[in-house]
Amino acid sequence: MRHVAVRDLHHVGIAVADLAAAVDRWCGLLGAEVEAEEEVESQGVRAVALWTGTGRVELLAPLAADTPVGRFLERRGEGLHHVAFGVDDVVAELRLLRDGGATLIDVEPRQGLYGPVAFVHPETMGGVLIELVGRQAPGVSKEAQ
Ligand code: CO
Repeated sequence: MRHVAVRDLHHVGIAVADLAAAVDRWCGLLGAEVEAEEEVESQGVRAVALWTGTGRVELLAPLAADTPVGRFLERRGEGLHHVAFGVDDVVAELRLLRDGGATLIDVEPRQGLYGPVAFVHPETMGGVLIELVGRQAPGVSKEAQ
């Protein structure tokens, strides 16, 4: 069976209650550098992407209690929220995952902090929420670029 062509471990997502305090901690203690900061209204989060050495960490704070990250914090507290893998073509990889029996949260990519993203349900990967991050805009085939 074909499998997802993972390019890299793109980032690790961490849910936090206080975004500014978390950024201070990551930058002050681990020397992380802020790469990007954005409010992703469709996902109900404010996200800060940090570079730590050669790896990226994404800090996520909910915009409201009644959002996926808000409910995550309520249920489990601060901590590891998801692991993201870079791929070339999110649409193609989602199709492959679905055909392989994965439970998808997104059947179509949505716009994330870095481009098109899609989430795979934690029940598929041992309790860990998986995110795919693609290179190109949703619906644009590799050939068209
Ligand atoms: Co992410």
